[in-house]
Amino acid sequence: MSFPTQRPRRLRTTPAMRRLVAEVEVSLNDLVAPLFVREGITDPQPILSLPGQFQHTVESLCKQARELANLGVPAIMLFGVPEKKDAVGSEGWNPDGIAQRALRAVRDEVGDDLVVMSDLCLDEYTDHGHCGVLLPDGDVDNDATLELYAKCAIAQAQAGAHVVAPSGMMDGQVGAIRSALDATGFINTAILAYSAKFASAEYGPFRDAVGVQIQNGGNRKTYQQDGANVREAMREVALDIDEGADMVMVKPALAYLDVLSAVASESSVPVAAYHVSGEYAMVKAASENGWVDGSLLMREHLTSIKRAGADIILTYAARDFAESL
Ligand code: PBG
Repeated sequence: MSFPTQRPRRLRTTPAMRRLVAEVEVSLNDLVAPLFVREGITDPQPILSLPGQFQHTVESLCKQARELANLGVPAIMLFGVPEKKDAVGSEGWNPDGIAQRALRAVRDEVGDDLVVMSDLCLDEYTDHGHCGVLLPDGDVDNDATLELYAKCAIAQAQAGAHVVAPSGMMDGQVGAIRSALDATGFINTAILAYSAKFASAEYGPFRDAVGVQIQNGGNRKTYQQDGANVREAMREVALDIDEGADMVMVKPALAYLDVLSAVASESSVPVAAYHVSGEYAMVKAASENGWVDGSLLMREHLTSIKRAGADIILTYAARDFAESL
């Protein structure tokens, strides 16, 4: 009998050995917790499709932010759910709109203990559910939308956002927001660009969480990217960096790890990946059925995203991760 001359299993013999040779490790310092704040409620509402996540009141949001900071989570991404919606999404830039009120309250609570990021889009605020204003034919008017994004950026910066994160996939959005912020003196408000954001079925639970339905059974395929295209993702990232993005994002994460890896190898700025609502919800649902070990699988997801090259991971599992340490 001949013996193997190579024995890779030697490096897997003990937990300490495995830790020693691990190539990557997800750090709490990489994580951003997405949080929702809803206008017109008196108690936090559990989001059924996102077990463990809530639509917060301003008060419960501040408490959650404080607890996350105390647990060592470095950042949050805030989404507002307004009571009133209209065709242009005007609550998105109203200084007293829910997102702006929440930003001010959270900054009062946590100061600089957390990086406070603010999603910048109009779909939560429009009655038709699209990420911008509509032309008579129902298509999204790119350039008219940019003017509204600029107003949202200023309102969010005024309310205290450290980072604004445009997620609407309009052409030129990063440049429009950067020049609006610079012209109003917010030179230090950073931009995390949702650069390669794909039209994905994995956003389903999120749309529940923010109460968004696209009118007439519509979709976002004229602005979000087609899942088949990695070259186009590279172009979107390059344009955003050129327009002044401080960080870029690939979204969703797991079904697009090849895109993430390609972006990470080319980007001159930090790369974020969004482990989106559907990815989180699938793990939770399978785990609740006893089909998978949810915490092990969530870890595996985050490790894969890190291994593919993400410097920053937005995940609904941030708090669970922090508490597991
Ligand atoms: C748009 C936005 C979406 C998400 C973040 N920002 C939804 C969409 O594009 O339909 C999805 C996040 C998630 O699924 O966790 N404002």
